[in-house]
Amino acid sequence: MSDSSPPAVHTRRTVLKSTAAAAAGSALVSSRALADPPVSEAGEITLMVNGRRHTVVVEPRVTLLDALRERLDLTGTKKGCDRGECGACTVLIDGERIKSCLTLAVMRQNCAITTVEGLADGDRLHPVQEAFIRRDAFQCGGCTPGQVMSAVACIQEGHTGSEEEIRQWMSGNICRCACYQNIVAAVADAAKEVRR
Ligand code: FES
Ligand code: FES
Repeated sequence: MSDSSPPAVHTRRTVLKSTAAAAAGSALVSSRALADPPVSEAGEITLMVNGRRHTVVVEPRVTLLDALRERLDLTGTKKGCDRGECGACTVLIDGERIKSCLTLAVMRQNCAITTVEGLADGDRLHPVQEAFIRRDAFQCGGCTPGQVMSAVACIQEGHTGSEEEIRQWMSGNICRCACYQNIVAAVADAAKEVRR
């Protein structure tokens, strides 16, 4: 059977119209995809935080930061930028410093997580915490828990040989109050204390 419909004639106008329609269609699809993320089921996970085992119910998309703050009420870990830029959310995971806004809680099951609440030994502050107080290394305090956790790791890593080295290895932690001079002094003090 022959097709009696006329062959399509493509003019500049029809090509532009069809291209615009296709673009609009794909934009609609992608904006729908953004507006309606796939539904994921909450599940029970186990987090080991500051030496204690906690069972929490989270969706797979929940960051470790939100799990700590909103499920476990460990609000010492601060949410600054929530996108890996400021370091306010730094915690230790198996001894390494990690920005907790950049990792998912479900990925950190069975890891040893240490937050700022887990540093002190009873009433006795960690040497880094004492040094921050002694050196007056904060103003508003918003960045301080992250700075302290990062400093603990920086000292453990052995990156405290000079002021320059401390500055470089603490550079992932931003202080909007610009207390850098005092923070560096505190890290240097604490490094001496820890190594004694
Ligand atoms: Fe995580 Fe800023 S809150 S890096
Ligand atoms: Fe205010 Fe660092 S003390 S941001």
